[in-house]
Amino acid sequence: MRILITGGAGFIGSHTAELLLAQGLDVTIYDDLSTGKRANVPAGATLVQGDVRDFSALAIAMRGCDAVLHLAAVVSVPMSIQRPHFAHEVNATGTLNALEAARYLGIDRVVIASSAAVYGASKQLPLAEALPPEPLSPYAAQKWLAEAYAATYAALHGMSPICLRYFNVYGPRQDPASPYSGVLSRFIGAALAREQSTLHGDGRQTRDFIYVGDVARANVRALLAPDPAPGLVFNVGTGRAVSVAEAYALIARLTGAPPAGRAPARAGDVPHSRADVGRARTLLGFAPCTSFEAGLEATLAWAQQRLVPTLPMSA
Ligand SMILES: NC(=O)c1ccc[n+]([C@@H]2O[C@H](COP(=O)([O-])OP(=O)(O)OC[C@H]3O[C@@H](n4cnc5c(N)ncnc54)[C@H](O)[C@@H]3O)[C@@H](O)[C@H]2O)c1
Repeated sequence: MRILITGGAGFIGSHTAELLLAQGLDVTIYDDLSTGKRANVPAGATLVQGDVRDFSALAIAMRGCDAVLHLAAVVSVPMSIQRPHFAHEVNATGTLNALEAARYLGIDRVVIASSAAVYGASKQLPLAEALPPEPLSPYAAQKWLAEAYAATYAALHGMSPICLRYFNVYGPRQDPASPYSGVLSRFIGAALAREQSTLHGDGRQTRDFIYVGDVARANVRALLAPDPAPGLVFNVGTGRAVSVAEAYALIARLTGAPPAGRAPARAGDVPHSRADVGRARTLLGFAPCTSFEAGLEATLAWAQQRLVPTLPMSA
C-alpha cells in the first residue's frame, strides 16, 4: 500500500511518514520545501518536490497511491492575513486539487489537515465538532472551506475523505526559531538559549497540547480506518487543558530556566481551548497515549541535541 503525503517534509508530515514506513507501507512525499526540510524526509520515503497549486504535477505524483494525507499548507495565521490570496491558493485551492486529483485517479481516502482555529474564540468548552465554526483569520476560513470541499466530494462522488482538526501540536522538529511556532517550542528555545521567556496576560490561558507522535497515530488511523462516515470532521486533541503558565513551570523545572517575564495580554488571544475527543475515540478508535510531561521531555531531548556543536572532522 502506498500513501502520498503532501507537506510530508514538514513537522507533522515527517513523523507520520516515519510511522507509516515502520508499519511496512510505502510513502511518497509531495512538498515544495517552503517550510519543510529535505533532512526531515525519512530514509525509505520518496520525495517529489512540487507545489499543491500545480494540479498536474500533484496528480502525477499521486498516481499509484492508495490513500492521500493532505498536510501542505500556509500554516502561518499572520501570513494568511498579510497575503490572503496566496494563502487561499495553497490552503483552499490546494485542498481542492488534492481531492480532485484523488477523484480522477480513483483514490477514495483523502485525510485532510484542518485546525482547531476553525472554532475561533468559541466559549463552549469542550470544543465539539458540531459547534458552528467561527473563523477569525483567512487561515481558519480556508481550513473550514477545505472541510466543506471534503464533505462535498463525499456527497457528490461517494469518496471517503476525513478531516482532522488538530489542536496545539508540539514535539521534535517544530522549529523554535520560527516566529509562528507554538508557544511551547518558543519557551523551549528560549530556555535552552538561556534567554528569558515572556508570558502574556496572566498566563492562565489554556491550550490542548497534543504530542506530534499521537497526531501521527491519528493520521494513520484515519488513513487506514474502515469508513467511519464520509466527509466527517474529527478533533485531534487530548481533551486536557494545560495553562500556559503551567506549561512554562514544567519546562522551567526540566531545564532550570528562570521565571518568565510578564507582558500585557495579546489582542485576539483565544483564552481557552480544549477538544471534545469523543468522536475520534468512538469512530476512529483514536486516543492519545503520550502524557504532557513525557512529550515535553522528548521535545527537550531533541532540542538539546540540536544545540550540540558539530565538531570539525579534523578535530
Ligand atoms: N502544528 C500545529 O499545531 C497544527 C495545528 C493545526 C493544524 N495544523 C495543520 O497541519 C498541517 C501540517 O502542519 P505542520 O505543523 O507540520 O507545518 P509545517 O510547516 O512543518 O508543514 C507544512 C509542509 O507543507 C509544505 N508546503 C507548504 N506549502 C506548500 C505548497 N504550496 N506545496 C507543497 N508543499 C507545501 C511545507 O514545505 C511543509 O513541509 C498544516 O495543514 C497545518 O495547517 C498544524
